[in-house]
Amino acid sequence: MKRSISMFLVSVCAAFCVVAEEPQVKTDAVAGDGPILFGPYIQKVESGEATVVWVTQGDKVTLEGGEQTIDRSDYRVHTVRFDRLKPDTKYTYKLGSGLSGSFKTAPGKAAKFRFVVYGDTRSREEEHQKVVDGMRKQGELAFVINTGDLVSSGSNLDHWKSFFKVAGPLMAETYYVPCLGNHEDNAKEYFDFFVLPNDEYWYSFNWGGVHFVALNTEPMAIPDGMPASAETELYSSRQMWEYFAKQREWFEKDLQDNQFADFIVVYFHVPMYDSKTSRRENQYEIRKAFGDIIDKYRVELVLNGHTHNYQHYRKGLTHYVITGGGGAPIYDIEEGAGVEGVETIRQEQSTHYCVVDVEGSRLKLHSYFPDGTSIEEFSVESQGGLRRVDERLKAIGGLPWEKEQAPAK
Ligand SMILES: [Fe+2]
Repeated sequence: MKRSISMFLVSVCAAFCVVAEEPQVKTDAVAGDGPILFGPYIQKVESGEATVVWVTQGDKVTLEGGEQTIDRSDYRVHTVRFDRLKPDTKYTYKLGSGLSGSFKTAPGKAAKFRFVVYGDTRSREEEHQKVVDGMRKQGELAFVINTGDLVSSGSNLDHWKSFFKVAGPLMAETYYVPCLGNHEDNAKEYFDFFVLPNDEYWYSFNWGGVHFVALNTEPMAIPDGMPASAETELYSSRQMWEYFAKQREWFEKDLQDNQFADFIVVYFHVPMYDSKTSRRENQYEIRKAFGDIIDKYRVELVLNGHTHNYQHYRKGLTHYVITGGGGAPIYDIEEGAGVEGVETIRQEQSTHYCVVDVEGSRLKLHSYFPDGTSIEEFSVESQGGLRRVDERLKAIGGLPWEKEQAPAK
C-alpha cells in the first residue's frame, strides 16, 4: 500500500515490542469499525515478515450536479504487519471477530516449493471460480501470481466485490501477488487492497533460490473503450518510453544484484510474443523496453497475460508463457509470435491456470484446464551459474589459466 494513500486508513498507529525473539506487531488500523467487506487475507509474505489485511465497509456517498449523479462507497483498509517470524514456517491468524486464515513464510534458502500463476480474471465470475476451484486442489501453494487485469475496472468497488468473492478464500491462506494490468486503471483501490514490495508499480522478491521480478507495462490508465489505434499511439509515445527507461534502469540493476539466483522469473501484463496480430506494435514496444535485458541475464521464465488464452513460446534460453485464461472472455489463437527466431511450442484457446514446481536446479511448469486435465508440461534448466559470465570474466581479467605465463623453454 503506497504511503500517499495511507490517509485512507485510520490514522491510529501503534507499534509495540513484545519480548525479544517474539514476533513484533505493527498496526495502522483499529479493528471492528463497520462490517468486513473483504478478508482477512495475507500479503507481502517474506522469510521473516507478513501482513494480515482486511477491509471494512464505510458509508455510501452520492454526488449530484452537472446533470450527473455519482454513487461511491467508502471503505477502510486495515493492515497488521508481523515481523521476526521464522522462515519456512506455517502460521495461522485470527481476527477478534473469529475470521481466520493461514500462510507459510518464505524459505530463507533454496528449497522445494510450488506456486500457481494465472491472469485476466476479470468479467466472468463463474469462469474465474472454476479456475480457482482447480487451483485449490493443487496442494500447498507458496503463493499465487496474477499477471494483471484482475477486474474490469479498477475503480469500481462492485468489480472488486466479485473478485474477492472468488479469490478471497484462496487469499486468506496464500500470498496473492499481482502485477498491474490495463484494466486496473492505476486505480487507488488496487494499491489500497494489495500490500506488495517496493512501490508496488514494479518490484522483486526472493522465494527459496528463485528471484521473482514484476514489471509494469501500464504507465498510464488507458480509458475504457479507447480505439486500438489510439492505444497504440499512447504505447509508442515519448511519455511511455521515459517511463520504461526509468524501469529498465531499475530492472537491470535488480538482475545484476540477483544474477546468482537459481532461477529468474519475470512477470508483467502485456506480452512480448503473442499470436494476437492487432497488438503487434504494443508487443514490439514491450520487447524494446525489456527484451535485451531478459536475453542478457538469461531469464529462465517470463509470464504474461492480456491475451485471453494460453500460449508458450521459446526464444533462446527463455520460455515465454501467456496465461491470460483466468476467467475473461477467451480470444482466438491467430498465428505464431510473428518474430523470427521465436519458436511456438503450445497454444490453447481456453480458460486455464499454471502450476510451477521448483526443486533444486529444476523448474517445471504444468498448465491445466480448470477441471484438472493437463494442457502441457515442460522443465526449465537453471542458468544460475552462467549468467553474465562474460562480464565476470572481464572483471577478473580472463580465466586464471589464460593469465598464467607459459614456462620458459
Ligand atoms: Fe489487458
